[in-house]
Amino acid sequence: MSAVVRRSSAMRHIPQQTDGLFSGHRIDTSRPGAIDRITDGVRKRGLVTLTGIDSRTDALALAAQIMTVIPHRDSDSDGITTIRDTRRHTHRAGFAGFGNGPLEPHTERSGSPSPPRLMMLVCGQAAHAGGDSVLVDGRAVHADLVTGARAAASALAQPRSAYFGAGDGHPSQVFTIYDDDQVAVRLRLDGLARFSPIVQPYLPTLRAAIARHQLLMPMAPGQGYVLDNRRWLHARTAFTGSRVCWRALGEPRFAMSHGFIPQLAAQAAPALVGP
Ligand SMILES: [Fe+2]
Repeated sequence: MSAVVRRSSAMRHIPQQTDGLFSGHRIDTSRPGAIDRITDGVRKRGLVTLTGIDSRTDALALAAQIMTVIPHRDSDSDGITTIRDTRRHTHRAGFAGFGNGPLEPHTERSGSPSPPRLMMLVCGQAAHAGGDSVLVDGRAVHADLVTGARAAASALAQPRSAYFGAGDGHPSQVFTIYDDDQVAVRLRLDGLARFSPIVQPYLPTLRAAIARHQLLMPMAPGQGYVLDNRRWLHARTAFTGSRVCWRALGEPRFAMSHGFIPQLAAQAAPALVGP
């Protein structure tokens, strides 16, 4: 069973073991009721961890039950993308996932007008060393900033204060606040991200908050996760060896609210309920 590790203070610091937020909760996809458990977990926490996916065929079959799988630039025609070090994309902006270097926490397809709501990633073959998934709860980062750096949280929610992607990218903001106060996150921090002068002074604060909430999740073959791409950021550590992952992107086959309920609002809610 894989351990989940919380990275303590900075992205390159040695991770510290925690009590395993997810490691004891992997959903065995071969068991009855798995789809309901996945649906429930994604709705409530925006993330579920999986086990029992033994092949690319299994990965596609599972994804198709959870989401309308959307083929895109890098995928095969059935929508599954095989992520491996191709040794051909090392220095191409926007293709870092097909190398073996580290990836910074990001939203999948952040530069598209409407990024896919769900992402499923499954490990087909583990790296010789490294290649661990890194997951960051955008809800926790948002709460961290609202409580500890309110000016940063405010700047990062200014409309059109960021631009993600190349020439065909998309203007956006890191935190989108909907009319009902739900929140969505959209982010990349690589060379295809631009930020307005309003936001730039707060990028170190944002990076530090992300680092405080990074969860390191090694994955063995057959293991994976499904995440809400409006809530969770994902990343990867550098690796050696022939790591292979299968990825599916798509829209959920079940109802989801348009964002997440901010942590502080959720904590305050019980107090609003009278005796
Ligand atoms: Fe990605």
